[in-house]
Amino acid sequence: MEQLVEQLSDDQLEVFDTEHVNHRRWLPIKRCLDRDFPDGRFTFLDLGGGNGNFADRLLENYPESSGAVLDNSQLLLNRNKPHPRKRLVFGGVENLESIVDTRYDVIFFNWILHHLVARSSYSRTRENQRLALRSTLRILTDRGRVSVYEDIYNGLAIDGAPGWIVYRLTSMRTVARLLRKLGANTAGVGVCFQSYRQWCAAIERNGFRILDYTNDDLAPVPWTWSALLHVGELRCGHFWLGSDR
Ligand SMILES: C[S@@+](CC[C@H](N)C(=O)[O-])C[C@H]1O[C@@H](n2cnc3c(N)ncnc32)[C@H](O)[C@@H]1O
Repeated sequence: MEQLVEQLSDDQLEVFDTEHVNHRRWLPIKRCLDRDFPDGRFTFLDLGGGNGNFADRLLENYPESSGAVLDNSQLLLNRNKPHPRKRLVFGGVENLESIVDTRYDVIFFNWILHHLVARSSYSRTRENQRLALRSTLRILTDRGRVSVYEDIYNGLAIDGAPGWIVYRLTSMRTVARLLRKLGANTAGVGVCFQSYRQWCAAIERNGFRILDYTNDDLAPVPWTWSALLHVGELRCGHFWLGSDR
């Protein structure tokens, strides 16, 4: 049977034993949570939550909250600090329907959608991203929100070209060793970034409305990335979503 989503090796996963949500990136999340859950009472599910640092921050800032960290890496789940209001779930986002039967108020996708890579094709990979978003509709409460942090790659002239080129290069096994030496941690497995417009389309055509959007400052783009990967703009963006129901 074809594997739906490629799995990173433990040495590739070690790099993710970190926390991508720094103080500045925490602020839009906090603002949205405070507005939509003013009493601070909510349940959350952190998809691809790895070492649990982000969940710990939520639990510390919102003493009435409780939640779960789901990840398909036992290595990273084992790095979690125990907490009475935190649960750990081992499994892949692609199997959400069969492994999660509880409904949550807030579901986080912090830099995980770009990992839902199918080796078979780029279009199947993008379908994995759409399916992952859609699958959360069933486990969101009526007041539920979805929070997505992602890397945004806008093309110089062709909007979606960088995402496609990076997917093609990183999913090729033949050049994996070379690309890893050049710094591409996901080489050999693949990674699939999108442009701002592509992320918006994936969100809005799969049952969600964008209630709030913020982004980091533009990151400097090395000339080699412009020349070889067609990257025009690069930054992190935060999407806060409500369901269309
Ligand atoms: C770039 S790291 C982000 C970690 C964390 N969310 C953060 O913001 O720092 C990607 C995380 O997604 C997890 N992951 C990748 N593919 C997954 C899948 N199919 N199902 C569940 N977790 C996955 C990895 O193990 C890793 O913890």
